[in-house]
Amino acid sequence: MSGIKKQLAENQRNQIQNVAVLGATGSIGHSTLDVLSHLSDRFRIALLSCHQRLDRFQEQCDRFKPRRAIVTGPRNAEVDAWLQKTDGCSETVREVGTTRLIEAIESDEIDIVVAAIVGCAGLESSLAAALAGKRLGLANKESLVVAGEMLINAVRSGGAELLPIDSEHSAIFQSIQSGQGKSEVQRIILTASGGPLRKWPVGDLENATVEDALAHPTWNMGRKITVDSATMMNKALEVIEAKWLFDLTPEQITVVIHPQSTIHSMVEFCDGSVIAQLSPPDMRLPIQYALTYPDRFPSPAYKIDWGTPHQMEWYPVDPERYPALELGFEVAKRGGTTGAVLNGANEAAVELFLNRKIRLTEIAKICRSVLNHHDYSPSPALDELMRLDRWSREEVFRWINIPC
Ligand SMILES: NC(=O)c1ccc[n+]([C@@H]2O[C@H](COP(=O)([O-])OP(=O)(O)OC[C@H]3O[C@@H](n4cnc5c(N)ncnc54)[C@H](OP(=O)(O)O)[C@@H]3O)[C@@H](O)[C@H]2O)c1
Repeated sequence: MSGIKKQLAENQRNQIQNVAVLGATGSIGHSTLDVLSHLSDRFRIALLSCHQRLDRFQEQCDRFKPRRAIVTGPRNAEVDAWLQKTDGCSETVREVGTTRLIEAIESDEIDIVVAAIVGCAGLESSLAAALAGKRLGLANKESLVVAGEMLINAVRSGGAELLPIDSEHSAIFQSIQSGQGKSEVQRIILTASGGPLRKWPVGDLENATVEDALAHPTWNMGRKITVDSATMMNKALEVIEAKWLFDLTPEQITVVIHPQSTIHSMVEFCDGSVIAQLSPPDMRLPIQYALTYPDRFPSPAYKIDWGTPHQMEWYPVDPERYPALELGFEVAKRGGTTGAVLNGANEAAVELFLNRKIRLTEIAKICRSVLNHHDYSPSPALDELMRLDRWSREEVFRWINIPC
C-alpha cells in the first residue's frame, strides 16, 4: 500500500463508521447488533432492515435507535400502524420498501453494509453496496451463488471491499493472509459439521422430520440454513461461494466433516503446510472481523477453554448420505446460469420441506432434476438470472404437482 493510501485507510479507521444491518431480525442480524453494541466507540448503527417480523424489529429500534429503519415486506395494515408509531425511537426515520433500502445503502450515510438477508432476496442490496463502493460484510452467500461473477465485478468497478462473514470463508480469509499470495495456495479445506443427522442410517434419512432437521448439534442459525446444513446443501453453496471469493478452481476445494465445529476451515499451501482458524462456534467472531479488518479488538464471542480436554476429528464426506454436495461442485465448475437455478430450486424445496410437503431427502433430488432441465447459458445478464430464479421455483412446485 502506498504511503498516502495507508494514511487514508488509517484516517478512515479512526473515524466512527456508519453501519447498515440488512436482515437485522435474523440470527446473523442479532449477532451483528451484539458485536456493534460492544464496539459503540467505533461503529454507529445507522440503518436496520427487516422483512416482516415487526415486533422484534420494533424492540431493536427502541434499543439501538438507528437513524433509519426500513421494512421490505409487503405493505399491510400492520406495517401502516408501525409507520405511524411515534413512541420508543422517535429519532428513527421509518420507511417501507426495497427501493428505499437501496437508496439508503447508496447514500453517504452508510460506510459498511452487513448483508444478512436470507436467500436470493439479498442479491439486489449486495450488488447496490458493491457498486456504491461500501465495505460489504457478506453473510448472504446466496448473492455469490446466484450471481458470483457479477458481484465480484461490481465490487471491482465500485471500488468496494468484500469481507466474508460465513465462518468458513472468514477462516480461509484469515488463514490465507499467512501466505504471500494466491499462487502459494494449493487448496482450501472447508469443514462441515455434518448436521444433526450425521449418525442416522442412510436408509432412515427419508423419515427425518422438520424438528429432526432443525436440531443442529453445534450452531444456532435461521431455519433455512439449518435445513441446508442437514442436507449439506449449505456446504454445496459454500463451495461456490469460496470459488468466487478466493478465485479458486473446484479442484482446489476439499470438504471434510468436522463434527466439533472448532476448526472453521483451513488452507493448504504449496509446501504442504496447513493453516487453520479455530474458535468455538460463535458467529460474532467472523462478523466482528469483517467489521474491523485488518484490526482486531476484544470480542464478546466465546473463547476456547484450553483447560478442558477437547477432541478434534475429521472424516471424508459420504456422497451417498449427502448427495447435495456434488451439486455445489458441479455449479462451481459450470458457472453461468447454474447457480441461480440450484439456489432457486433449493430455496423452494426447503420451504416445502419446512411446510411438511416433501421429505428431506427429496430436496437434493428435486434440485438435481431442475438443474438438469434448465436452459443453460454461460454468461447471463441479471434479468436472465432473475427469470431463472423464478422459473426454478415454479419447476419445484410443478415437480410435486402443487400449484404455485
Ligand atoms: N445464521 C448463521 O449462523 C449463518 C452463518 C453463516 C451464513 N449465514 C447466512 O446469513 C444469511 C442470513 O441467515 P440467518 O440464519 O440470519 O437467517 P434468518 O435468521 O432466517 O434471518 C433472515 C433475515 O432476512 C430477512 N428476510 C427474509 N426474507 C426477506 C426478503 N424477502 N427480503 C428482505 N429481507 C428478508 C428476515 O426478516 P424477518 O425477520 O422480518 O422475516 C431476517 O431479518 C443467510 O444467507 C445465511 O446463509 C448465516
